[in-house]
Amino acid sequence: MSAPTHIPVLVKETIEALVVQPGGRYIDCTLGGGGHAAAILDRSSPGGQLLGIDADPEAIKIAKTKLRAYSGSTLLINENFVNLQAICSKHGFLPVHGILFDLGLSSLQLNGNNRGFSFQHEAPLDMRLSPNQEVTAADIINTSSESKLAQLIKTYGEEDRSHKIAHYIVKERPLKTTLQLVRTIEQAIGSKRGRIHPATRTFQALRIAVNHELERLEATLKQVINLLGFEGRLVVISYHSLEDRIVKQFMQQESKDCICPPGIPTCVCGHAACLRLINKKVITPSPEEVQLNPRSRSAKLRAAERLITQRKQYKTTERLRSPVGVKTGDRGG
Ligand SMILES: C[S@@+](CC[C@H](N)C(=O)[O-])C[C@H]1O[C@@H](n2cnc3c(N)ncnc32)[C@H](O)[C@@H]1O
Repeated sequence: MSAPTHIPVLVKETIEALVVQPGGRYIDCTLGGGGHAAAILDRSSPGGQLLGIDADPEAIKIAKTKLRAYSGSTLLINENFVNLQAICSKHGFLPVHGILFDLGLSSLQLNGNNRGFSFQHEAPLDMRLSPNQEVTAADIINTSSESKLAQLIKTYGEEDRSHKIAHYIVKERPLKTTLQLVRTIEQAIGSKRGRIHPATRTFQALRIAVNHELERLEATLKQVINLLGFEGRLVVISYHSLEDRIVKQFMQQESKDCICPPGIPTCVCGHAACLRLINKKVITPSPEEVQLNPRSRSAKLRAAERLITQRKQYKTTERLRSPVGVKTGDRGG
């Protein structure tokens, strides 16, 4: 049997949006199986450099093997991307030509037998990206109040029947495994399959809560501005509306000169645009890509380019079209 793989999504579109060029310096904040990273390294050769980050030590191991031909040009770090600025400062990896986020989970994680991300396999209710995190999905399920569970499932899962599900979870707990949770959800809202499995939204909500996905995405996007050189590109691929909304709002806000509330006669915010939107409409996979890789169907790609700005907090005057030299090696893990 062949080894499990993750098929990267929107690769051509990502490389184009990042304007990957020989000798460029790039950050892949969500290394996963290393598919996008390999494409970036290919296109940025000769002389390209890539800093790859993933919170999951298993992903780093797999990507290291996949990217071994480029080991002189890569720096692979097992860390949460919320520490992006600190990681870049520590390794002197800034400013950069491009930063990529391909959010969510890889197929390797979804199909992994012991991670608890999928409602299709029996596994402990874990859902942590990294074993260093303390709180698991089982902890949340078995210790939260009914109202807190309902609110979490509603907010992070956009699930209308969250109160019913939370009520049944509290009635049936302790729940230890994914399939115990699936059966409880089916008792609460029925097992009829519509467009999506009845457990989809609750599993999404738990995964977001366990990994603080939305807060960390918001906090990390703010750090990106200071790391991109002039004309450097930010590319984000998201897979559900909650993360896409954060990306869209961030890019829109940072591409405006004034963000004062409507109705204020003169600008008091002092905000200066530091990004230019590349694609006003999101980029989505072609029907051919969706057919080849059904997991790509919900992908949305947004891209923006760093502008020169005088705003103190985000000051950039460094032009980045020519390659920047920094000595890197494979210090990941
Ligand atoms: C969709 S996969 C990326 C796949 C990758 N682009 C490829 O081509 O193989 C998302 C990856 O991001 C990682 N990830 C998600 N949130 C993260 C975070 N806050 N910090 C670091 N890694 C994160 C996951 O562990 C997962 O491996």
